[in-house]
Amino acid sequence: MTTPELGLPMAVPAEGLPARVRIHEVGARDGLQNEKATVPTEMKAEFIHRLAAAGLTTIEATSFVHPKWVPQLADAEQLFPLVRELGAPDGTAALPVLVPNERGLDRALSLGASRIAVFASATESFAKANLNRTVDEALAMFEPVVARAKAQDAHVRGYLSMCFGDPWEGPVPVQQVVRVCRALRDMGCDELSLGDTIGVATPGHVTALLTALNEENIPTPSLAVHFHDTYGQALANTLAALQHGVTTVDASAGGLGGCPYAKSATGNLATEDLVWMLTGLGIDTGVDLGLLTATSVWMAEQLGRPSPSRTVRALSHKE
Ligand code: HMG
Ligand code: MG
Repeated sequence: MTTPELGLPMAVPAEGLPARVRIHEVGARDGLQNEKATVPTEMKAEFIHRLAAAGLTTIEATSFVHPKWVPQLADAEQLFPLVRELGAPDGTAALPVLVPNERGLDRALSLGASRIAVFASATESFAKANLNRTVDEALAMFEPVVARAKAQDAHVRGYLSMCFGDPWEGPVPVQQVVRVCRALRDMGCDELSLGDTIGVATPGHVTALLTALNEENIPTPSLAVHFHDTYGQALANTLAALQHGVTTVDASAGGLGGCPYAKSATGNLATEDLVWMLTGLGIDTGVDLGLLTATSVWMAEQLGRPSPSRTVRALSHKE
Protein backbone atom coordinates (compact mmCIF):
# COMPACT_ATOMS: atom_id res chain seq x y z
CA MET A 1 0.00 0.00 0.00
CA THR A 2 1.28 3.51 -0.75
CA THR A 3 0.10 6.79 0.71
CA PRO A 4 -2.15 8.59 -1.75
CA GLU A 5 -1.11 11.92 -3.21
CA LEU A 6 -3.75 14.59 -3.44
CA GLY A 7 -6.00 13.76 -6.39
CA LEU A 8 -4.94 10.11 -6.60
CA PRO A 9 -6.47 6.97 -5.10
CA MET A 10 -4.63 4.90 -2.52
CA ALA A 11 -2.70 2.16 -4.32
CA VAL A 12 -3.77 -1.29 -3.16
CA PRO A 13 -2.53 -3.94 -5.60
CA ALA A 14 -4.68 -6.96 -6.43
CA GLU A 15 -3.36 -10.35 -7.45
CA GLY A 16 -3.17 -11.57 -11.03
CA LEU A 17 -2.85 -8.20 -12.72
CA PRO A 18 -0.05 -6.78 -14.90
CA ALA A 19 2.55 -4.43 -13.40
CA ARG A 20 2.26 -2.00 -16.29
CA VAL A 21 -0.43 -1.10 -18.83
CA ARG A 22 0.12 0.75 -22.11
CA ILE A 23 -2.70 3.15 -22.82
CA HIS A 24 -3.52 3.61 -26.50
CA GLU A 25 -5.00 7.11 -26.47
CA VAL A 26 -7.74 7.60 -29.08
CA GLY A 27 -9.24 10.97 -28.09
CA ALA A 28 -7.80 12.91 -31.00
CA ARG A 29 -9.15 10.37 -33.51
CA ASP A 30 -12.09 8.41 -32.11
CA GLY A 31 -13.05 11.37 -29.92
CA LEU A 32 -12.87 14.21 -32.38
CA GLN A 33 -14.21 12.25 -35.38
CA ASN A 34 -17.55 12.26 -33.63
CA GLU A 35 -17.82 15.93 -32.70
CA LYS A 36 -20.54 17.89 -34.48
CA ALA A 37 -18.25 20.88 -34.79
CA THR A 38 -14.93 20.42 -36.55
CA VAL A 39 -12.13 21.32 -34.17
CA PRO A 40 -9.52 23.67 -35.72
CA THR A 41 -6.29 21.95 -36.78
CA GLU A 42 -4.06 23.99 -34.42
CA MET A 43 -6.30 23.06 -31.49
CA LYS A 44 -6.03 19.36 -32.38
CA ALA A 45 -2.24 19.72 -32.52
CA GLU A 46 -2.21 21.38 -29.10
CA PHE A 47 -4.44 18.60 -27.75
CA ILE A 48 -2.01 15.94 -28.99
CA HIS A 49 1.02 17.79 -27.59
CA ARG A 50 -0.69 18.13 -24.23
CA LEU A 51 -1.57 14.41 -24.21
CA ALA A 52 2.08 13.59 -24.85
CA ALA A 53 3.19 15.99 -22.11
CA ALA A 54 0.82 14.17 -19.74
CA GLY A 55 2.81 10.98 -20.36
CA LEU A 56 0.74 9.16 -22.99
CA THR A 57 3.10 7.21 -25.23
CA THR A 58 0.69 6.00 -27.93
CA ILE A 59 -1.56 8.73 -29.31
CA GLU A 60 -3.76 7.98 -32.31
CA ALA A 61 -3.45 11.22 -34.25
CA THR A 62 -5.99 11.15 -37.09
CA SER A 63 -7.42 9.13 -40.00
CA PHE A 64 -6.55 9.15 -43.68
CA VAL A 65 -10.06 8.18 -44.73
CA HIS A 66 -12.29 9.73 -47.35
CA PRO A 67 -12.83 13.35 -46.22
CA LYS A 68 -16.52 13.18 -47.11
CA TRP A 69 -17.01 10.16 -44.84
CA VAL A 70 -15.36 11.80 -41.83
CA PRO A 71 -15.19 15.56 -42.45
CA GLN A 72 -13.97 16.19 -38.88
CA LEU A 73 -10.63 14.58 -39.79
CA ALA A 74 -10.34 15.99 -43.31
CA ASP A 75 -7.34 18.06 -42.17
CA ALA A 76 -5.08 15.00 -41.66
CA GLU A 77 -2.50 16.36 -44.15
CA GLN A 78 -2.31 19.66 -42.28
CA LEU A 79 -2.38 18.14 -38.78
CA PHE A 80 0.15 15.35 -39.05
CA PRO A 81 3.18 17.58 -39.79
CA LEU A 82 2.30 19.69 -36.73
CA VAL A 83 2.70 16.72 -34.39
CA ARG A 84 5.06 14.47 -36.35
CA GLU A 85 8.15 15.17 -34.25
CA LEU A 86 6.49 13.47 -31.25
CA GLY A 87 6.59 10.21 -33.20
CA ALA A 88 10.20 10.55 -34.40
CA PRO A 89 12.73 8.00 -33.09
CA ASP A 90 13.78 10.43 -30.35
CA GLY A 91 10.18 11.56 -29.75
CA THR A 92 7.98 10.74 -26.78
CA ALA A 93 4.89 9.19 -28.34
CA ALA A 94 4.06 6.82 -31.18
CA LEU A 95 1.42 8.35 -33.47
CA PRO A 96 -0.69 5.68 -35.18
CA VAL A 97 -3.15 6.77 -37.87
CA LEU A 98 -6.16 5.00 -39.39
CA VAL A 99 -6.02 4.02 -43.05
CA PRO A 100 -8.81 2.07 -44.79
CA ASN A 101 -7.18 1.45 -48.16
CA GLU A 102 -4.09 1.98 -50.31
CA ARG A 103 -5.07 5.58 -51.03
CA GLY A 104 -5.07 6.23 -47.29
CA LEU A 105 -1.78 4.39 -46.87
CA ASP A 106 -0.12 6.50 -49.57
CA ARG A 107 -1.30 9.66 -47.86
CA ALA A 108 -0.05 8.47 -44.44
CA LEU A 109 3.33 7.16 -45.62
CA SER A 110 4.05 10.28 -47.66
CA LEU A 111 3.87 12.27 -44.42
CA GLY A 112 6.16 9.91 -42.53
CA ALA A 113 3.63 7.89 -40.52
CA SER A 114 5.21 4.71 -39.16
CA ARG A 115 2.24 3.15 -37.37
CA ILE A 116 -1.02 2.51 -39.13
CA ALA A 117 -4.33 0.89 -38.25
CA VAL A 118 -6.81 -0.81 -40.55
CA PHE A 119 -10.33 -1.25 -39.25
CA ALA A 120 -12.45 -4.29 -39.97
CA SER A 121 -15.92 -5.25 -38.81
CA ALA A 122 -17.22 -8.48 -37.32
CA THR A 123 -20.64 -7.78 -38.83
CA GLU A 124 -21.87 -7.25 -42.38
CA SER A 125 -24.11 -4.31 -41.44
CA PHE A 126 -21.30 -2.25 -39.96
CA ALA A 127 -18.85 -3.20 -42.72
CA LYS A 128 -21.34 -1.76 -45.19
CA ALA A 129 -22.10 1.35 -43.13
CA ASN A 130 -18.48 2.16 -42.26
CA LEU A 131 -16.52 0.96 -45.28
CA ASN A 132 -19.08 0.50 -48.08
CA ARG A 133 -17.90 -3.12 -48.36
CA THR A 134 -18.88 -6.61 -47.17
CA VAL A 135 -16.72 -8.04 -44.36
CA ASP A 136 -14.65 -10.05 -46.84
CA GLU A 137 -14.40 -7.23 -49.37
CA ALA A 138 -13.04 -5.02 -46.59
CA LEU A 139 -10.50 -7.69 -45.65
CA ALA A 140 -9.44 -7.89 -49.30
CA MET A 141 -9.07 -4.09 -49.32
CA PHE A 142 -6.77 -4.26 -46.26
CA GLU A 143 -4.54 -7.03 -47.54
CA PRO A 144 -2.29 -4.92 -49.80
CA VAL A 145 -2.35 -2.13 -47.21
CA VAL A 146 -0.95 -4.39 -44.50
CA ALA A 147 1.55 -6.04 -46.87
CA ARG A 148 2.90 -2.70 -48.08
CA ALA A 149 3.00 -1.21 -44.57
CA LYS A 150 4.89 -4.26 -43.23
CA ALA A 151 7.33 -4.07 -46.16
CA GLN A 152 8.12 -0.54 -44.96
CA ASP A 153 8.58 -1.71 -41.37
CA ALA A 154 5.46 0.07 -40.20
CA HIS A 155 3.64 -1.26 -37.16
CA VAL A 156 0.13 -2.41 -38.08
CA ARG A 157 -2.84 -2.52 -35.75
CA GLY A 158 -6.00 -4.25 -36.88
CA TYR A 159 -9.17 -2.92 -35.31
CA LEU A 160 -12.20 -5.13 -35.19
CA SER A 161 -15.52 -3.38 -34.57
CA MET A 162 -18.79 -4.83 -33.24
CA CYS A 163 -17.06 -7.64 -31.34
CA PHE A 164 -19.85 -7.91 -28.77
CA GLY A 165 -23.01 -6.52 -30.32
CA ASP A 166 -24.21 -4.63 -33.36
CA PRO A 167 -26.98 -2.01 -33.52
CA TRP A 168 -28.57 -3.64 -36.58
CA GLU A 169 -27.82 -7.34 -35.98
CA GLY A 170 -27.94 -7.62 -32.17
CA PRO A 171 -25.61 -9.99 -30.30
CA VAL A 172 -22.56 -11.11 -32.30
CA PRO A 173 -21.52 -14.78 -31.97
CA VAL A 174 -18.00 -15.21 -30.58
CA GLN A 175 -16.92 -17.48 -33.46
CA GLN A 176 -17.91 -14.81 -35.99
CA VAL A 177 -15.48 -12.45 -34.25
CA VAL A 178 -12.76 -15.09 -34.05
CA ARG A 179 -12.94 -15.67 -37.82
CA VAL A 180 -12.21 -12.03 -38.68
CA CYS A 181 -9.49 -11.79 -36.01
CA ARG A 182 -7.85 -14.85 -37.56
CA ALA A 183 -7.96 -13.18 -40.99
CA LEU A 184 -6.39 -9.97 -39.66
CA ARG A 185 -3.64 -11.94 -37.90
CA ASP A 186 -2.94 -14.03 -41.00
CA MET A 187 -2.67 -10.84 -43.01
CA GLY A 188 0.18 -9.73 -40.75
CA CYS A 189 -1.36 -7.34 -38.23
CA ASP A 190 1.00 -6.95 -35.26
CA GLU A 191 -1.78 -6.11 -32.84
CA LEU A 192 -5.55 -6.54 -32.77
CA SER A 193 -7.85 -4.15 -30.96
CA LEU A 194 -11.20 -5.66 -29.98
CA GLY A 195 -13.84 -2.97 -30.35
CA ASP A 196 -17.03 -2.81 -28.36
CA THR A 197 -18.24 -0.09 -30.68
CA ILE A 198 -21.65 0.37 -29.02
CA GLY A 199 -20.61 -0.47 -25.46
CA VAL A 200 -22.79 -3.55 -24.88
CA ALA A 201 -20.08 -5.94 -23.61
CA THR A 202 -20.10 -7.28 -20.07
CA PRO A 203 -17.11 -8.88 -18.28
CA GLY A 204 -18.00 -12.55 -18.81
CA HIS A 205 -18.42 -11.91 -22.53
CA VAL A 206 -14.99 -10.26 -22.64
CA THR A 207 -13.37 -13.26 -20.96
CA ALA A 208 -15.20 -15.66 -23.30
CA LEU A 209 -13.95 -13.83 -26.40
CA LEU A 210 -10.35 -13.63 -25.14
CA THR A 211 -10.43 -17.35 -24.29
CA ALA A 212 -11.83 -18.23 -27.72
CA LEU A 213 -9.06 -16.19 -29.38
CA ASN A 214 -6.40 -17.99 -27.33
CA GLU A 215 -7.90 -21.31 -28.41
CA GLU A 216 -7.41 -20.10 -31.99
CA ASN A 217 -3.71 -19.51 -31.14
CA ILE A 218 -4.06 -15.74 -31.05
CA PRO A 219 -1.88 -14.80 -28.08
CA THR A 220 -3.09 -12.35 -25.44
CA PRO A 221 -0.02 -10.06 -25.70
CA SER A 222 -1.07 -9.23 -29.27
CA LEU A 223 -4.53 -8.12 -28.13
CA ALA A 224 -5.83 -4.73 -27.04
CA VAL A 225 -9.30 -3.84 -25.82
CA HIS A 226 -11.35 -0.88 -27.02
CA PHE A 227 -14.43 -0.24 -24.92
CA HIS A 228 -17.06 2.40 -25.42
CA ASP A 229 -18.89 3.25 -22.21
CA THR A 230 -22.52 3.43 -23.36
CA TYR A 231 -23.83 1.22 -20.53
CA GLY A 232 -21.18 2.09 -17.93
CA GLN A 233 -19.43 -1.27 -18.35
CA ALA A 234 -16.10 -0.14 -19.79
CA LEU A 235 -14.07 -0.24 -16.57
CA ALA A 236 -15.52 -3.59 -15.46
CA ASN A 237 -14.77 -4.99 -18.91
CA THR A 238 -11.24 -3.60 -18.74
CA LEU A 239 -10.64 -5.29 -15.40
CA ALA A 240 -11.80 -8.61 -16.87
CA ALA A 241 -9.36 -8.13 -19.76
CA LEU A 242 -6.49 -7.28 -17.39
CA GLN A 243 -7.24 -10.40 -15.35
CA HIS A 244 -6.92 -12.35 -18.59
CA GLY A 245 -3.47 -10.83 -19.21
CA VAL A 246 -4.24 -7.97 -21.60
CA THR A 247 -1.81 -5.06 -21.15
CA THR A 248 -2.89 -2.63 -23.90
CA VAL A 249 -6.05 -0.66 -23.27
CA ASP A 250 -7.60 1.95 -25.58
CA ALA A 251 -9.09 5.02 -23.95
CA SER A 252 -10.06 8.55 -24.84
CA ALA A 253 -9.10 11.64 -22.85
CA GLY A 254 -12.16 13.07 -21.15
CA GLY A 255 -14.32 10.23 -22.54
CA LEU A 256 -14.67 11.90 -25.94
CA GLY A 257 -15.83 9.71 -28.74
CA GLY A 258 -18.21 7.48 -30.60
CA CYS A 259 -18.50 6.40 -34.18
CA PRO A 260 -20.32 8.46 -36.81
CA TYR A 261 -21.45 5.24 -38.55
CA ALA A 262 -22.87 3.50 -35.45
CA LYS A 263 -25.70 5.58 -34.01
CA SER A 264 -25.78 4.06 -30.53
CA ALA A 265 -22.05 4.50 -29.90
CA THR A 266 -21.13 6.97 -27.16
CA GLY A 267 -17.73 8.00 -25.89
CA ASN A 268 -14.85 5.65 -25.24
CA LEU A 269 -13.74 4.64 -21.79
CA ALA A 270 -12.31 7.89 -20.40
CA THR A 271 -8.54 7.81 -20.01
CA GLU A 272 -8.80 9.56 -16.63
CA ASP A 273 -11.24 6.93 -15.29
CA LEU A 274 -8.86 4.22 -16.49
CA VAL A 275 -5.80 5.89 -14.95
CA TRP A 276 -7.65 6.32 -11.64
CA MET A 277 -8.47 2.60 -11.49
CA LEU A 278 -5.01 1.47 -12.62
CA THR A 279 -3.28 3.80 -10.14
CA GLY A 280 -5.51 2.41 -7.38
CA LEU A 281 -4.44 -1.10 -8.38
CA GLY A 282 -0.77 -0.08 -8.23
CA ILE A 283 -0.42 -0.54 -12.03
CA ASP A 284 2.05 1.78 -13.74
CA THR A 285 0.82 3.81 -16.73
CA GLY A 286 3.35 6.65 -16.85
CA VAL A 287 0.47 9.12 -17.06
CA ASP A 288 0.27 12.28 -14.94
CA LEU A 289 -3.43 12.37 -14.01
CA GLY A 290 -3.34 16.06 -13.06
CA LEU A 291 -1.92 17.15 -16.43
CA LEU A 292 -4.28 14.84 -18.29
CA THR A 293 -7.34 16.12 -16.44
CA ALA A 294 -6.32 19.73 -17.10
CA THR A 295 -6.07 18.84 -20.81
CA SER A 296 -9.56 17.35 -20.87
CA VAL A 297 -11.01 20.31 -18.97
CA TRP A 298 -9.40 22.62 -21.54
CA MET A 299 -10.76 20.54 -24.46
CA ALA A 300 -14.24 20.45 -22.88
CA GLU A 301 -14.14 24.26 -22.68
CA GLN A 302 -13.23 24.43 -26.38
CA LEU A 303 -16.10 22.07 -27.23
CA GLY A 304 -18.52 23.97 -25.01
CA ARG A 305 -19.73 21.08 -22.87
CA PRO A 306 -18.46 19.26 -19.80
CA SER A 307 -16.44 16.07 -20.07
CA PRO A 308 -18.52 12.92 -19.46
CA SER A 309 -15.63 11.44 -17.45
CA ARG A 310 -16.54 10.99 -13.78
CA THR A 311 -12.88 11.34 -12.80
CA VAL A 312 -12.44 14.58 -14.77
CA ARG A 313 -15.55 15.97 -13.10
CA ALA A 314 -14.47 14.91 -9.62
CA LEU A 315 -10.92 16.21 -9.95
CA SER A 316 -11.92 19.51 -11.55
CA HIS A 317 -14.85 20.21 -9.21
CA LYS A 318 -14.54 23.65 -7.67
CA GLU A 319 -16.42 24.61 -4.48
P1 HMG B 1 -16.01 4.37 -51.14
O1 HMG B 1 -17.00 5.47 -51.39
O2 HMG B 1 -16.43 2.96 -51.39
O3 HMG B 1 -14.65 4.72 -51.89
O4 HMG B 1 -15.55 4.52 -49.64
P2 HMG B 1 -14.07 4.18 -53.25
O5 HMG B 1 -13.01 3.20 -52.96
O6 HMG B 1 -15.19 3.78 -54.17
O7 HMG B 1 -13.42 5.52 -53.86
C1 HMG B 1 -14.27 6.64 -54.18
C2 HMG B 1 -13.46 7.92 -54.23
O8 HMG B 1 -12.91 8.18 -52.92
C3 HMG B 1 -12.25 7.85 -55.16
O9 HMG B 1 -12.11 9.16 -55.71
C4 HMG B 1 -11.09 7.58 -54.24
O10 HMG B 1 -9.85 8.07 -54.73
C5 HMG B 1 -11.49 8.35 -53.00
P3 HMG B 1 -12.53 9.49 -57.21
O11 HMG B 1 -11.71 8.53 -58.03
O12 HMG B 1 -14.01 9.17 -57.24
O13 HMG B 1 -12.19 10.91 -57.34
N1 HMG B 1 -10.87 7.77 -51.82
C6 HMG B 1 -10.14 8.43 -50.90
N2 HMG B 1 -9.79 9.73 -50.80
C7 HMG B 1 -8.98 10.05 -49.76
N3 HMG B 1 -8.55 9.18 -48.85
C8 HMG B 1 -8.89 7.88 -48.90
C9 HMG B 1 -9.72 7.48 -49.98
N4 HMG B 1 -10.23 6.28 -50.33
C10 HMG B 1 -10.94 6.47 -51.45
N5 HMG B 1 -8.45 7.02 -47.99
C11 HMG B 1 -13.88 4.22 -47.92
C12 HMG B 1 -14.67 3.58 -49.06
C13 HMG B 1 -13.20 3.12 -47.17
C14 HMG B 1 -12.89 5.19 -48.52
C15 HMG B 1 -14.88 4.99 -47.02
O14 HMG B 1 -15.90 4.12 -46.65
C16 HMG B 1 -14.24 5.57 -45.78
O15 HMG B 1 -13.42 6.48 -45.85
N6 HMG B 1 -14.66 5.07 -44.58
C17 HMG B 1 -14.07 5.50 -43.32
C18 HMG B 1 -15.10 5.47 -42.22
C19 HMG B 1 -14.45 5.83 -40.90
O16 HMG B 1 -13.40 6.44 -40.84
N7 HMG B 1 -15.11 5.45 -39.78
C20 HMG B 1 -14.64 5.74 -38.45
C21 HMG B 1 -13.44 4.92 -38.06
S1 HMG B 1 -13.86 3.28 -37.51
C22 HMG B 1 -14.25 3.45 -35.84
O17 HMG B 1 -14.39 4.53 -35.36
C23 HMG B 1 -14.32 2.21 -34.99
C24 HMG B 1 -13.10 2.04 -34.07
O18 HMG B 1 -13.00 3.14 -33.18
C25 HMG B 1 -13.22 0.73 -33.26
C26 HMG B 1 -14.58 0.56 -32.56
O19 HMG B 1 -14.96 1.41 -31.74
O20 HMG B 1 -15.22 -0.44 -32.87
C27 HMG B 1 -11.81 1.97 -34.87
MG1 MG C 1 -14.11 3.32 -31.31
